[in-house]
Order: sequence, then C-alpha cells, then structure tokens
Amino acid sequence: MSTESNMQRILITGGLGQVGSYLVDALHEKASITVLDNFSSTTREAVPHGIHVIKADIKDRIAADLVKQNDVIIHTAAQISVTASMEDPLFDAQNNVFGTLNLLEAARRSSISKFIYISSAAVYGNPLYTPVTESHPQDPLSPYGVSKLSGEKYCMMYHKAFGLPSCCIRPFNIYSPRQDPGNPYSGVISRFIDKAKAEQSPIIFGDGTQTRDFISVHDIVDMITLLLENEDANGQVFNAGTGNSTTVSELAHMILNIFDADVPVQYMPERPGDIKYSCSDIAKARKILGFEPKVPLREGLMEFAESK
Ligand code: UD1
Repeated sequence: MSTESNMQRILITGGLGQVGSYLVDALHEKASITVLDNFSSTTREAVPHGIHVIKADIKDRIAADLVKQNDVIIHTAAQISVTASMEDPLFDAQNNVFGTLNLLEAARRSSISKFIYISSAAVYGNPLYTPVTESHPQDPLSPYGVSKLSGEKYCMMYHKAFGLPSCCIRPFNIYSPRQDPGNPYSGVISRFIDKAKAEQSPIIFGDGTQTRDFISVHDIVDMITLLLENEDANGQVFNAGTGNSTTVSELAHMILNIFDADVPVQYMPERPGDIKYSCSDIAKARKILGFEPKVPLREGLMEFAESK
C-alpha cells in the first residue's frame, strides 16, 4: 500500500470548484492532493479526509510556493463567466492571464512532471464549421475567450521554450450537480433543472434551435486522468467534448420529462453574443489519449435528480 510520502503530489487549483472538486474525488486515494482555492465559487461543503486545502488566490506568492512543492499541477482555477468578463475585462485578465502566468513561472523553476491547463471552447468564437477541430481558427468573442486563449498560448510557449511538460484541454459545455444554480452566470442545464424542480417554465433565449455539446464533468475528469499518464500529450491542446450536439429546445424537454414537470417552455429574445451551433471534433483525443466519453446526456441529467 502506498504511503503519503511515496505518493505523487498533485496541486489542484480551483479544487473546490466544479471540475476541481470532482478531480479531488477521483484522485485522492491515488495521490497526495493539495487544493488551492479562493472560495469564490463553491457548492462543496466538505472535502474528503486528508486533503490539504489552502485558501489563497492563484496570483498570490503562496500559489507559486505550492507549485514548487508538488509534482503535478492541474490548473482549473479561473474567472469562468463570459458575461462577467464582458463587464470587467481587467478582473478577468488579472485572474486568468496573470494568475496562470504566476503558476507557470513557478513551474518553470521547479521539476514538475505535468502542468494541465483547463482552457475553453470559448477560444473558437463563433464556429465557422462544426464539428470544431483543434485547428479551427481561434477568434474569441469575449474577454474570457481571450484570457483563456492567452493562458493556453503561455502553456504551449513554456513547453517549446523551457521544456515544461504542459498540455491543455478545451472543454465545451460542462455540467454537473455541483454547478451552482443560484449563480446568475450558471449554465443552461442547472438553470433549466432549477426551474423544472420548482414546476416553473424554463426560459429559452432565442428559438431553441441553437446547439451545444454538453459534456458530463465525469468525462472531463476521465480525460484529465488520461493526460496525467500520457507523455505524448505534452505540448498539445485537446478538445474536450462528446462529439454530439443537442438543441436547447431538446434539452428543455428532456429535463421537463426527467423531472416530471408539466409546464410549457417560455421564449425570450436571443442573448447578445450567443453562439448558434457548437459541437466538438474529438478525433485527436481519441487517437492520442484513447479518450471515449461515457456519460450519455440523459444519464448525466438523471444524476441531478438523484443528488438533490
Ligand atoms: C458555455 C460556458 C462557457 C464556455 C462556453 C464554451 C457556462 C455557464 N458557460 O457558454 O464558460 O466558455 O460554453 O463553448 O457553462 N440558455 C437558455 N436559457 C437559459 C440559459 C441559457 O436558453 O436559461 C441558452 C443560451 O442562450 C445558449 C445556451 O443555452 O444558447 C447555452 O448557454 P450557457 O449554458 O450559458 O453556455 P454558453 O453560452 O454556451
């Protein structure tokens, strides 16, 4: 049996957040985990026993010190809202650009074996074609997309110039029961579920024909776990999606059906800046990582019903 002293040491930034908290659950028996989180957005009430939780910001000096004390860095902490980034681009860049750079600079001066960065499909902007491959032009529509792309570019540049073993994923629309429905910036799935549970009408912005590639957080965790073991992934960026798309209208009806809510959907004008069609091409992740998404949307939505 492994003891804490010979276990791999993994630092998870944003370890109380949506992706980070599920990573902690998946990895804490196999590695010595430290969580760095500023407690800005969490629905998690308790972490598993034995996890070191440090309350600090990725821009802080202590974040750099923690990088140097670990073998692997999984960097999920970020300002995650597109809308908030439109309102305050400086705040967004300070977190997502300078916070990431603070960690990378520390990583360059240490002997880490992997740096995994969570980017976003927002780097593509409005897709020119779907499914979107990693080589699709990157033309973000929001400060958030720009800051995420910037973090990616730094990771790849640190790989090329300094040999840092870094790799990036670009998640499409991640969902999980740990996404906070009370947050006005929450994703469509938690908003629709919140409404359905209250027997209220979900609100569709636009005509509902827009599509998204919804991916369960468990599949995201699977992909990150595959990255941990794969040296060919270093210096690479991977789409993290399912390769399937669903219209927002289909989603609304699926959720009403699962929660047995007998209410009509309501329509509101389209959201400014909304992307119309989104779907990932995951051939690269399949080939290099052996990644295969395992959670069908309906099954992933059922988890919300069971968890609350
Ligand atoms: C999402 C992510 C964003 C990521 C991007 C990558 C969230 C909150 N945002 O943005 O971080 O960079 O994918 O592609 O996960 N909608 C409704 N009714 C609602 C809420 C939303 O009809 O109550 C519609 C929206 O207008 C949109 C779609 O649902 O067409 C998805 O919206 P949303 O879940 O906010 O995510 P994205 O904008 O796709």
